[in-house]
Amino acid sequence: MYEQTGLNLGATIILLHEAISRSLEVTKLKCKEYILPSGKPDQATQDSFILYVTTMGVVINAHHIGEDDIIFPKLRSALPQAPFEELANEHKIMDEVLAEFRQTVETSSGDFFSSLLDTVTRLIALWLPHIAKEKQYIYSLEITAALMSPEEHVKMLQETSAHAMEQGNPALMLPFVLRNLNSEDRKAFSRILPPEMTQTLIPTVWKPQWAPMLPFMLE
Ligand SMILES: [Fe+2]
Ligand SMILES: [Fe+2]
Repeated sequence: MYEQTGLNLGATIILLHEAISRSLEVTKLKCKEYILPSGKPDQATQDSFILYVTTMGVVINAHHIGEDDIIFPKLRSALPQAPFEELANEHKIMDEVLAEFRQTVETSSGDFFSSLLDTVTRLIALWLPHIAKEKQYIYSLEITAALMSPEEHVKMLQETSAHAMEQGNPALMLPFVLRNLNSEDRKAFSRILPPEMTQTLIPTVWKPQWAPMLPFMLE
């Protein structure tokens, strides 16, 4: 059973945005470090970093799909002033940059870290104003609290999260989101997940899959 008290769609999506923003920033900082002759990572670190950035791309893409397919259509009539078209177009633009990002990771050429740095810098420049707009028009606590009953918040969060998880491997995606949040925010975000996931699957069964990303995650 899901814990239902006080869950809010806006507050939860803002946490997801924060986790993604942190991961984009970590990616940028690490690329800057790894470009330096003295900062070249060993093969194991590079492999872990590639898993981290690949998972980040999947999580961002899945989040866009969750908004395009579930959240935006459901809120469209209740929030006529929100720029849904513009936001959906921005998803397409970001997804094109994400495709470049994937290609850079897959080809892994000599100037890998500088190509990745260029792509992630462009992605951050699109991402930050995009989430600011979403916060202003859609995800503020006041807006979403007034829109739906507590049960509807839970239902939409569960539906969106299940749909997003279909876009990739939950054993990587969920720990990725949780571990890019500080412990307080992680606790708050965990409330949308079934306890078997947070208490059993993530810390034990799934850990061998996501543990290589630990050097880039929060404690
Ligand atoms: Fe969005
Ligand atoms: Fe969003």
